[in-house]
Amino acid sequence: MLFNDQQVEKLVGVETPFYYYDLALLERTLDAAKQAADKRKFHIHYALKANFNDRILSIIRSKGFGADCVSGNEVQKSIDVGFEASKITFAGVGKSDKEITSALKHQIFAFNVESIQELEVIDELAAKLGEKANVSLRINPNVDAHTHHYITTGLDENKFGVPNSELEQAASVLRSCAHVNLVGLHFHVGSQITDLNVFKSLCVKVNEWKNWFEERGTYIKVINVGGGLGVDYHAPDENPIPDFEAYFDVFDKFLDRNGQQEVHFELGRALVAQCGSLVSKVLYTKSGTKKHFLILDAGMTELMRPALYQAYHKIEKIGSDPSAKTINYDVVGPICESSDCFGKEVPLPESKRGDLIAIRTAGAYGEVMASRYNLREEIRYIYST
Ligand code: LLP
Repeated sequence: MLFNDQQVEKLVGVETPFYYYDLALLERTLDAAKQAADKRKFHIHYALKANFNDRILSIIRSKGFGADCVSGNEVQKSIDVGFEASKITFAGVGKSDKEITSALKHQIFAFNVESIQELEVIDELAAKLGEKANVSLRINPNVDAHTHHYITTGLDENKFGVPNSELEQAASVLRSCAHVNLVGLHFHVGSQITDLNVFKSLCVKVNEWKNWFEERGTYIKVINVGGGLGVDYHAPDENPIPDFEAYFDVFDKFLDRNGQQEVHFELGRALVAQCGSLVSKVLYTKSGTKKHFLILDAGMTELMRPALYQAYHKIEKIGSDPSAKTINYDVVGPICESSDCFGKEVPLPESKRGDLIAIRTAGAYGEVMASRYNLREEIRYIYST
């Protein structure tokens, strides 16, 4: 249950919908991740794309994490919030010249490069500025993440990374680029991965490619294995903090670190998902011939994941009465799309207009993916410590 009775009282009269962020849980999650990583001398770059709410970012920065960015604006935001440039990476298949130039001027830690052409463009732009760009080559390892196909990124059919067939050419282009310095290899196979064997398979591929480069005389200083650790959407109260020890253990055991390689991670969801919930009010209840509907004042415009990926989020009534009978509701939003549905046949205590509903585990890829479709209002949020 998200709120105790005293907290529920405080919510009376607060305008809905809003994102509710539990900052104490965020801190506990970050501390657990940092401790598990530090123990193994691993480095974590927080993937800003999961949530770039100012308050959340400044807490993450204060704990000493680096930043993993996928746009010029994310790089700028990390700098503005105070992340050290030497801990910022810039990834993405389509970096514009303007974004690259700006990141070069900030002297970020490294670009995660996704194609040979991009390598040449970075070299050219760095030459113009008289800079040398650090790059990690993103290799598409063809490892199946066994997650939703929209968030699988490491298969041959995905647009990400340099395919195996072009690595020979990439290595030779790298040798000819005077303004590019290869610091590492980068991999990322997908998101919301709950089967740790996927990461074991990734380690096997990483070792192969690291050896491939070393056999050709190129020392790899940084191994960046991306992000992707999943969270428990079904049991946010029972499992609020992912098992970072078990996750890092896989890499500790299976990554071959014969040299002094640094191992970098780009975690997003695992750090922020559980600390956020979307809180909404029941506008109307409606019983059709086949269905009972709860119509909320939040919709796919505030949380797009269910509509876009058929993603499950736990839905609960706030401050529910144990004596209320249970009804199976289709919980829907106000947007003019049938996909605007948070859950079908969700068993909930009988609800009425004005009741509050929480949609849990919405701290990652929630607020950041909100839209103004239907000219909806700007998203609101409140924090609890
Ligand atoms: N590194 C790279 C290169 C990525 O593409 C991503 C996520 C991450 C790190 C962070 O992954 P995480 O640790 O958060 O799994 N909107 C989707 C998720 C898209 C993930 C995109 N890439 C969702 O709501 O499930």
